[in-house]
Amino acid sequence: LFKEFIYIDEVDSTNTYVKQNQQHFKNATVVYAERQTQGRGRLSRRWVDLEKGIKMSILLKLLLLDLEKIIPLTLFTGLVINRVLRKYGVNSFIKWSNDIYLNGKKICGILSELSGEVEGLGSIIIGIGINVNAKSVPEDIKDIATTLKAETSQDFDRTRLIIDILIEFERDLSNFDKYGFSYFRDEYKSFCINLGKEILINGERMLCRDIGENGELVCEKDGKIIEISSGEVTIRF
Ligand code: BTN
Repeated sequence: LFKEFIYIDEVDSTNTYVKQNQQHFKNATVVYAERQTQGRGRLSRRWVDLEKGIKMSILLKLLLLDLEKIIPLTLFTGLVINRVLRKYGVNSFIKWSNDIYLNGKKICGILSELSGEVEGLGSIIIGIGINVNAKSVPEDIKDIATTLKAETSQDFDRTRLIIDILIEFERDLSNFDKYGFSYFRDEYKSFCINLGKEILINGERMLCRDIGENGELVCEKDGKIIEISSGEVTIRF
């Protein structure tokens, strides 16, 4: 699937770059940047640029996918990354919807963006940021974020990591396409740190009960069941 790999030394944001140039790119092009000057996170946040990390975007021209699958597809991507990290012996977990955590701090975030018509088809850009071999993170985010290196005292082969993620993504994409998120739900649930915890969603306190068939967060508040498909989640430990 992934036959085009573009390496850039420095760019504003790989997601922005793919969005602006996608008409020249084939389906499943991967754009990787060594440095981002304006890395973007979810909810209009910035993505702090750490040295020796992985910052890349995958362009999917929705040949296989319909729009309803976008959120589950992002969850699937997080699951795949978690799976690969675990194969490396990293004790990582998923924080709904698609952050990867290690020792209670974030090591990976995913920003999926939909983009208008490309030759009649929409496209999705899946931006992946992983904090890999930087020794530490800046002071202002050190309570919420960390790196693989800081937590394991190991250096990771980033090329290998990228290849393994792409291989694993491709291997299960057909299952995702056929069966949707429900095919991966049990695996997702077994690594999801939100389950059974009290969480804050957009300022409201709820108990997280389950992950639904399409990856929605099923919560309970005052005896009522509420399904959440997007929003910011803060876990209360
Ligand atoms: C988040 O957790 O808020 C999502 C972070 C996503 C960061 C990646 S790094 C590669 C790609 N380019 C961007 O500008 N953002 C994503």
